[in-house]
Amino acid sequence: MKIAVVGTGYVGLVTGTCLAETGNQVICVDINEKKVKMMQEGKLPIYEPGLELLFTRNINQGRLHFTSNLAAALEESKIIFLALPTPPGGDGAADLSYVLGAAKDIAGLIKEYKVIVTKSTVPVGTADKITAVLQEHTNIEFAVVSNPEFLREGVAVEDFMKPDRIVIGTLDERARKLMGELYAPYVRQGNPVIFMDQRSSELTKYAANSFLATKISFMNEIANLCELVGADVDMVRRGIGADNRIGRRFLFSGIGYGGSCFPKDVQALAKSAKENNYDFKILNAVMDVNDIQRAILVEKVKNYYKGDLKGKKFAIWGLAFKPETDDIREAPALYIIDKLLNEGAVLSVFDPEAMENVKGVVGDKIYYANNQYDAIEGADALLILTEWSVFRTPDFEQLDAKLKAKVIFDGRNLYDIQKMIDCGYYYNSIGRKV
Ligand code: UGA
Repeated sequence: MKIAVVGTGYVGLVTGTCLAETGNQVICVDINEKKVKMMQEGKLPIYEPGLELLFTRNINQGRLHFTSNLAAALEESKIIFLALPTPPGGDGAADLSYVLGAAKDIAGLIKEYKVIVTKSTVPVGTADKITAVLQEHTNIEFAVVSNPEFLREGVAVEDFMKPDRIVIGTLDERARKLMGELYAPYVRQGNPVIFMDQRSSELTKYAANSFLATKISFMNEIANLCELVGADVDMVRRGIGADNRIGRRFLFSGIGYGGSCFPKDVQALAKSAKENNYDFKILNAVMDVNDIQRAILVEKVKNYYKGDLKGKKFAIWGLAFKPETDDIREAPALYIIDKLLNEGAVLSVFDPEAMENVKGVVGDKIYYANNQYDAIEGADALLILTEWSVFRTPDFEQLDAKLKAKVIFDGRNLYDIQKMIDCGYYYNSIGRKV
């Protein structure tokens, strides 16, 4: 099938590349000419494990193309994916100007029936808005389909190639058939393609992310309670996760959820509920709990040093909002760095991928270490903020030798408490005894 993908951000690039991998002809469009040129030269502008291999292979085999010319991209494509940003507007609602702007441009260019698919996370009713814009500017037949993306950064290729489910929101028979054919190679193991109306599909995406965020905030509150009653959250997690109705995944307490999706989507769903005169109480609590949880490690540090962090040197391991990505959007690490600097602390940081991004935001207020051991040299304490594998089994001899004091604040519960105590550490983690 011939496909156009409008927008070559994270979702667009993964979608375009993975659609080419099953033999489709894909042309990706972006207004950023510099970026297009870079991709035409075979350079991938984002870091995502496994993507580069597929990206290069599909370019080399002539199935994946890049252009800044929307008209040329649309000409032969039957299906047009919109993978454009929907940033939160000033009032918390998603800003649809990119999506609706693209719909208007597309309306002016199409000459025959097209299926226009929203991949971006968009509020309920957006498909109707896109339809209205198209109807206003063209007489050509079209269908607007909601097809939310459920991929996770870090495992995006695997999530796209082997999805748990595909949700397709359209009542247009032709579009249904085309979308079903397009996704058939991805659901060969029998995972469902769930067809529904556009509004239900749009809401499914927000409901999924908000439910997952709720799970995390719930576990973070259980962790805080565990500390007060002397229980161990890792045990409680295993205890409840073994119940199939609850499930083992996404029950890890920590320093709050971050990233470009959960914070934005929970906020947008709460806002959309409010607009419909519905007070979505749980979502407000989920957001409040997350705000508190993001600061919890700083509170622990402050308590330990009796409120005085001036001149204290802290090493930070992990900056990205989660492992296997260089993404620092809404990363808890940024909040923690900010708070510690405000308290007068001196920081030395290391992350396997996100250093450059943090440099761009935080600048030279902190020291960017060459490796994880360089970061801890002479530090009063180590703070662990992202659960990169490389931090899970460190060389404790180097830790002992380089840290000024054997003090670790672990926001990701990476180590065995007893082992740390036996090794003489003050080890403060989340929801477990100190
Ligand atoms: C999330 C969803 O998981 C995807 O299904 C969805 O497609 C995506 O948002 C999106 O809307 O585009 P992502 O933001 O890449 O994916 O990251 P997650 O792996 O879901 O992690 C989100 C945050 O939750 C991270 O800060 C992570 O540290 C935190 N988390 C996750 C926990 O604190 N505990 C857990 O048990 C799991």
